Order: sequence, then structure tokens, then C-alpha cells
Amino acid sequence: MATRTTTTGILSEEKSSERAEIIALLTKAYWMEIETVMSYIANSVNPDGVRAQEIIESLQDDVQEELGHAQQFAARIKELYGVVPGSLDFTAEQSYLQPPDHQTDIVHVVKGVIEAETGAIEHYNSIIEVTDGVDFVTQDMVIAILRDEEGHRRLFEGYLREYEAEGRA
Ligand SMILES: [Fe+2]
Ligand SMILES: [Fe+2]
Repeated sequence: MATRTTTTGILSEEKSSERAEIIALLTKAYWMEIETVMSYIANSVNPDGVRAQEIIESLQDDVQEELGHAQQFAARIKELYGVVPGSLDFTAEQSYLQPPDHQTDIVHVVKGVIEAETGAIEHYNSIIEVTDGVDFVTQDMVIAILRDEEGHRRLFEGYLREYEAEGRA
């Protein structure tokens, strides 16, 4: 008896080109999450000063969430018959989250986090659009992740407001 293959949905034979497009988008998302983990680890350790503690604790929590996102993107790549790339394929892009000249420069970190979260929000919105009506499972997963990123951005926008109110940003 021949193996029964799926005839409907994103895993079907005739959807291979759609799958390839989605796998490419998920791979980009995976690398964005991996780089964010690196950047948030560094920025949850480097800052100095009495005002740094809140930022440090937020970023420590976010490291675990972003790592979880990377694992979800990796798992979905495999489910779509893709292969999770090796580290040699990685290219860094987060110039705005490099350590500031002074480790008391918390505004630099806050603005960098907002930029990273905004980039994720834009990319995940585009995945949600591409998968609409094509791959509901990926869409559902990315909607949940998008909510996390919107929460992260909102939290850091609040930090920035405080600095702006004091004329420090
Ligand atoms: Fe994330
Ligand atoms: Fe995030």
C-alpha cells in the first residue's frame, strides 16, 4: 500500500512553491530571533547605574522568550519539510544594539530594543499576510509571537517616555 500523502493544505505536493516561500520567511525570522537573543544577553549584562536595573531585568526575561520564538520558528521550518540552517549561514544586522560608548547610556539600549522589536513586528506582519488562506498553522503561530513582540515594544516605549519626560532622550 502506498503511503498516503496529504492532498489539501500547505503540506500537499502542489503547494511546494508556497512552502518554499514560507520557509524562507521563517528562516529570516529564526535568524532575527537568534540575533535578538545575543543582543539582549549583552544588553542585560552591560548596563551600569541605578536606572539600569529595570532594563536588565526586562531583557533577562525577554532572552528566554526570544529563544522560545527561535525554537518555534525552527520547529515550523521542519514541519514544512525545510531544514533549519547551520550557524555559518548567519549574518548579523543589529547595528543599533551594539554596546554603547558608555555603559550608563540606557537610552541607547532602550531605543535599540524598540528598533529590534519594530523590525520583528514588520516581518511577522508580512508572514501573517503571506500565510493568510495558505498556511493557517504558521499564521496562528506567528500571530501569537507577534503579540509577544508588540508587548515588548510597548514596554520599552514606556521606558523611553520616562526618559523623554525628563529630557534625557
Ligand atoms: Fe521574538
Ligand atoms: Fe521581542
